[in-house]
Amino acid sequence: MKNIVNRAYQNIDMQNILKMREEFQTTGILVLEDFLTENTLEWLKSEAKILYPQAYRSSTSYNPFVESAWSVPSDRLKNIEFTTQKECICYDEIPSSSALKQLYNGKEFQELICWILGIESIYPYADALSGINVNYYNVWDSLEWHYDNCNFTITLLIKKPDRWWVYEYFPNQRYNANGKENYSQVEQMIDWSLQPERIDLREATLVLFRGTESLHRVTSIKEGQRILVTFCYNSQPGISLNETSRMTFFGRLN
Ligand SMILES: [Fe+2]
Repeated sequence: MKNIVNRAYQNIDMQNILKMREEFQTTGILVLEDFLTENTLEWLKSEAKILYPQAYRSSTSYNPFVESAWSVPSDRLKNIEFTTQKECICYDEIPSSSALKQLYNGKEFQELICWILGIESIYPYADALSGINVNYYNVWDSLEWHYDNCNFTITLLIKKPDRWWVYEYFPNQRYNANGKENYSQVEQMIDWSLQPERIDLREATLVLFRGTESLHRVTSIKEGQRILVTFCYNSQPGISLNETSRMTFFGRLN
């Protein structure tokens, strides 16, 4: 991680790690500002610009409960549809010398993530596309309310759009105390009778987020482009992203 991430994130002592772990466990989100050095950020912006012409455009409409939409007991929520539109560069299109691959495959970065999450190990995706994605959101593109499928999400903001946008989420609200989906609260959220948390993220910020339990979205972009990198790992080795998701978001399987 030397020469890629800021000194504050190299050799972090255990006391700070434990603080980060507690914050992530309590709030479901950990925001690490100024994670990259200025040089790395500039380099990654140039790299993303060069890769952009190859990006695959996808557009998906979905129910926030995704696969279980048919069993949602509220007609309102069962029939609701949100949209995500973006362009994406896959792992195999990113140069092997890229700082993104050095981080993702590097022992130090993986250890940092494991320490923060309090888990033994994480494993890169087995398929050639899903481990790192560079996502581009232009004017009119959207990432509407949804839950993530994986236990934790790691994102790195490379470029902010030119005009105001914001990340919105309802922390750790998905399940009732009995472990059942909290549908009535989602109805309130969609009616705006509950207000989400809002973060205006800065470039070079790394975020760990438990998106399986917190409904979240980003507001649509008014001007410019947002570039967000996602790092995806599994808790077991040899796992590929399912074929439906690969075809939807990458337009190919390998
Ligand atoms: Fe998400």
